[in-house]
Amino acid sequence: MSATLIDGKAFAATIRSKVADHVARLKKEQDLTPGLAVILVGEDPASQVYVRSKGKQTTEVGMTSFEHKLAADTSEAELLALIQHLNANPEVHGILVQLPLPDHMDEDLVINAIDPAKDVDGFHISNVGLLGTGQKSMVPCTPLGCLMMLRNHHGSLSGMNAVVIGRSNIVGKPMAQLLLGDSCTVTVAHSRTKDLAEVVRRADIVVAAVGRPEMVPGDWIQPGATVIDVGINRIEAPEKGEGKTRLVGDCHYASCAEVAGAITPVPGGVGPMTIACLLANTLTAACRANGLPEPDGLTA
Ligand code: GUN
Repeated sequence: MSATLIDGKAFAATIRSKVADHVARLKKEQDLTPGLAVILVGEDPASQVYVRSKGKQTTEVGMTSFEHKLAADTSEAELLALIQHLNANPEVHGILVQLPLPDHMDEDLVINAIDPAKDVDGFHISNVGLLGTGQKSMVPCTPLGCLMMLRNHHGSLSGMNAVVIGRSNIVGKPMAQLLLGDSCTVTVAHSRTKDLAEVVRRADIVVAAVGRPEMVPGDWIQPGATVIDVGINRIEAPEKGEGKTRLVGDCHYASCAEVAGAITPVPGGVGPMTIACLLANTLTAACRANGLPEPDGLTA
């Protein structure tokens, strides 16, 4: 069997276009422009690339982008003061603090200073608790993107066996909660899981989010299963020339694609969905803040 490709790049473009249509309507009918504030502390090159991309896509869908770039030696108190200021600004509907933060800052303290209603990353402890108890919350963008792709491919996920590999707060744990919410039977596997291959072989849905290049081989995949590869790992690619690199996922694409029913590629799978979901979350936050109906199909 050769797997169907789940094209995250194309799907993300349709989400952005839905968001843009809804934003245009809000502007026209409500005189409301959703706004997203992104805070970057320091000069981590990967974070700078992400933040630039977020800002560009935010304005492309018609929202206002507020970018706050702070020096690496900014004090925690200064960052907290900025967050308070943004919490109080009615033009700001979403606030994202790019992680990782410099070592002298307490990440939990900073994230929990964000107004939960503006926490478009879904990392605030209140949103984690709301998601865990099946209540309306802001949902972390990467798992939300994975859920949207799964629903789009399968329709209902009810009763399916889902194995999430990885137990991070950003992906693994919220992914498990979302799959439970859609009535999957969920197993969360991780680096200490015994007989990981056997566990994965039982899965109708595999979500790999461990950050280890090509860790999942095709012979772990149940024939016909759906594979969602969250990993984005840069590895050396001597076949492309000296010093060259390429991106690979947590799954060995060629061998998994032989067996799976459907699979997301890397790049072009989960990656583009993350920022699309950030925009969707910002739109959702703006609607909720103004007592307006939420956009269809863009929330969990
Ligand atoms: N750094 C890497 N991924 C993320 C993310 O999803 N949100 C934030 N705020 N920082 C990140």
